[in-house]
Amino acid sequence: MSRKFHLGYFLTDSHAQAWATAWGGNVGKEWASPDLYVAAARELERACFDYVLIEDNVFVADAYGDSMDIYLRKGLSVPRRDPLMVAPYMLQATRHIGVVPTISTFAYHPYQLARLIGSLDQLSHGRAGWNVVTGSSERALQNFGHDGMDEHDARYDVADEFVEAANALWDSWDADAVVADRSSGVLIDPSKVRIPDYKGKHYATRGPLNSGPAPQGRPVMAQAGSSGRGRIFAARNADTIVVKAKTLDYARQYRQEIRELARSLGRDPDTIKLMLLIAPIIGATREEAELKRRKRDADDLAEAEATLAKVSKIVDIDFSRYPLDEPLKAEGLSTQGTRSVLTDFIARNAGRTLRQAGAIALAYNPDGTSLAGTAQDVAREMVEIMEHVGGDGFLVSGQTTRHFLAEVVDGLVPALQDLGAVRNRYAGGMLRDNLMEF
Ligand SMILES: Cc1cc2nc3c(=O)[nH]c(=O)nc-3n(C[C@H](O)[C@H](O)[C@H](O)COP(=O)(O)O)c2cc1C
Repeated sequence: MSRKFHLGYFLTDSHAQAWATAWGGNVGKEWASPDLYVAAARELERACFDYVLIEDNVFVADAYGDSMDIYLRKGLSVPRRDPLMVAPYMLQATRHIGVVPTISTFAYHPYQLARLIGSLDQLSHGRAGWNVVTGSSERALQNFGHDGMDEHDARYDVADEFVEAANALWDSWDADAVVADRSSGVLIDPSKVRIPDYKGKHYATRGPLNSGPAPQGRPVMAQAGSSGRGRIFAARNADTIVVKAKTLDYARQYRQEIRELARSLGRDPDTIKLMLLIAPIIGATREEAELKRRKRDADDLAEAEATLAKVSKIVDIDFSRYPLDEPLKAEGLSTQGTRSVLTDFIARNAGRTLRQAGAIALAYNPDGTSLAGTAQDVAREMVEIMEHVGGDGFLVSGQTTRHFLAEVVDGLVPALQDLGAVRNRYAGGMLRDNLMEF
């Protein structure tokens, strides 16, 4: 094993999503407590993860059947707490792990965002990040008083400006501006604070921030743009990119393209860490893992309609209008939502009925991988995958329960550590330092 790789955790959906599963505990009743978030952060820190990324969007969907019914009955991404409110609990309970809340750019002004994430970075000694999403649903926009949504690529133009403005604000303070010099009676050196006076087409902000410098300067930025325009945005701005790959070859090409794009934009490609999304199944024995895999497949088929509703939410297409047990007809389907999800969905499901397609629609593992077995089996496969992709690490996901966290933290990660594939202690830096450690 030549180079170590990084680990991130994807806290998906509503944190209460596992409420009705075997190890969901009482989270369905105790969802309002921060305990599961805090437990997750502590456990993942024990396994020396680089960061936890908290998924988010800001609406209750009604794309499926033109009704909120299935989303509410099944708790699909609801109840979902504001990740910026949850992040401080997680950071307060830990000392090394990074926390990366998802931010929908349209829901904030860059000044407000820069101040919030900058403050989080200060309060956590440099462990804050933000996962930048441009939003893909009109419903979310309506919650903020907007009538319609910009076209897909135009949303990235706006997001580019948003990031530029936020960076200008973070750059408005030198790191050593707060001198606290008792002898001269000076707290802040005025020569180290500037007015950026940023003026773009969509945003303007005078600055400087009144919250002072952030320990990381610019807090870590995560992104997951998979369209052509999204990749340019990510290559220009992101410190870490999360990718859901259909195949390992796709992941490999994606990484090469991002690295080339970064180079062409004047960035060192090694400053971008690409994390491949996976959902491992870990058993005490191979037989147990195989049983768990079969159970997961059966559950996914039983819940196919709910999963289809999630796809409807992401791509803004009402799949309830198509017969569940007939092959999916792709003609005429298009989206202003998340394009790559629709393209993938159509490509993967040729010849399958909509129900069968729904059952596997949000499967996170790339085709052709197993990622099921003992901790040692999965660890070995992860090493092989990294060797193929040439990549930087994994974004691990699953039903977030204390049981699943234990499988990862006490099973999978020690097996990876035995192979020398991941860190077994933090070097002690901030989130970006940890990402750049190898
Ligand atoms: C691992 C991962 C996490 C994501 N998290 C979110 C999220 O929390 N909220 C959201 O609205 N979109 C999320 N997305 C969607 C991306 O922001 C983006 O819209 C998607 O990758 C499609 O890219 P494109 O718009 O360039 O086609 C995520 C995507 C991936 C792969």
